[in-house]
Amino acid sequence: MENFTFWTPTKYVFGRGVEMQAGALTASMLGRKVLMVYGGHSAEASGLLAKVRASLSEAGVEWKELGGVRPNPTDDKVREGIDMMRAEGLDSLLAVGGGSVIDTAKAIAAGVPYDGDFWDFFEGKAAIGDTLPLVVILTIPAAGSEGSGNAVITKIDGKVKISIRTEVALRPKFALMNPELTFTLPPYQTACGIVDMMAHIFERYFSDTPCVEITDRVAEGVLMAIIEEAPKVMENPTDYDARANIMWSGTLAHNGVCGTGRKEDWASHAMEHEISALYDVAHGAGLAVVFPAWMTFMAKNHPEKGAQLARRIWDVKEDDDHKAAMEGVMQLKKFFKKLGMPVTMDELGITEPDIDLLVEKLHEHKGNVIGGYYPLTPTETRIIYQLTI
Ligand code: NZQ
Ligand code: ZN
Repeated sequence: MENFTFWTPTKYVFGRGVEMQAGALTASMLGRKVLMVYGGHSAEASGLLAKVRASLSEAGVEWKELGGVRPNPTDDKVREGIDMMRAEGLDSLLAVGGGSVIDTAKAIAAGVPYDGDFWDFFEGKAAIGDTLPLVVILTIPAAGSEGSGNAVITKIDGKVKISIRTEVALRPKFALMNPELTFTLPPYQTACGIVDMMAHIFERYFSDTPCVEITDRVAEGVLMAIIEEAPKVMENPTDYDARANIMWSGTLAHNGVCGTGRKEDWASHAMEHEISALYDVAHGAGLAVVFPAWMTFMAKNHPEKGAQLARRIWDVKEDDDHKAAMEGVMQLKKFFKKLGMPVTMDELGITEPDIDLLVEKLHEHKGNVIGGYYPLTPTETRIIYQLTI
């Protein structure tokens, strides 16, 4: 096991009605003038925003609103938020939504105290220093941004989607998580979220670092819970306990606990980010296509961890590692399909993917070699993209 620091300062407040604590918790971190960030229409339509406004009023917190954040959030919205906060003298942020809203709020939180353009952080030209405090009300368990130190933003000009990772700076102060708020999720978004949280575990599970049985077992436990609970939320969207299990799984999948003590992979996420940047598909749906292809490649070239996963998660009885790993890929595809997810580019709605461009942009953004479990150069990433067709 490698040395590690595990630091997750976010305070998670979980359960029915917790969104009503938004005002008090914002006030508790000295937020007196908050920017409330949200997405398209779901939070307004469900009545959530009305409740949050009431909670802010009751706590004596002033606020301004920045709505209209779209999935695969873009840099223009971040700049709009930064300008608004500076002009209005706002001191803290409240994100109401999923990964797109939270990541927009995180980028604003880092951008306001910074003299230059916030995109410098994403291009690696500047390191994030001070950030404004952020409270999150999560409405979709998926990206895990409520517990991660990451943010993913797309620059409209050039369709560049970049993910940045900090140890602590971008982690929210509070994450309010009421599973009832996820009852309104359409099946497609629910399924995209389930795929994304599984992918966050896979990225950490596929590792060559030896002797991290504890982390393997934590990861397997969360995966097994997701596999058991997912059909329940798909069948009955208002099953509170199933929604609660899925919601907490999404956080544990990405707050770092499934990756302690070892090197992680992250090639599949990098490959998917190029797809959602270019074709504007849902991140989870893109991962449902990329991961089976990546795992198929690994079954041939480095099958050990895939074989272990197949035996432990899918109960595959097969001694040969390659065959066991391939059986695991088949089981995973079957599971994704049962959720209604695509497993090929065509099913994702991309009939003629521009693989040359995907490979070129991927390595332009991520360097010539990607992936911690198995190094992938343009030759290998091309093969994997081809396996998605
Ligand atoms: O905009 P509204 O109307 O709210 O609709 C949203 C949106 O269309 C809808 N939705 C959210 N909560 C709902 C709801 N609809 C009904 N009822 C509710 N309760 O769901 C749609 C998707 O929302 P979005 O925030 O885009 O989803 P998600 O949480 O999957 O976030 C995806 C983004 O996060 C990035 C992805 O790349 C993508 O840009 N990621 C961020 C990560 C991080 N910060 O750590 C890690 C991830 O790997 C990921 O890359
Ligand atoms: Zn993801």
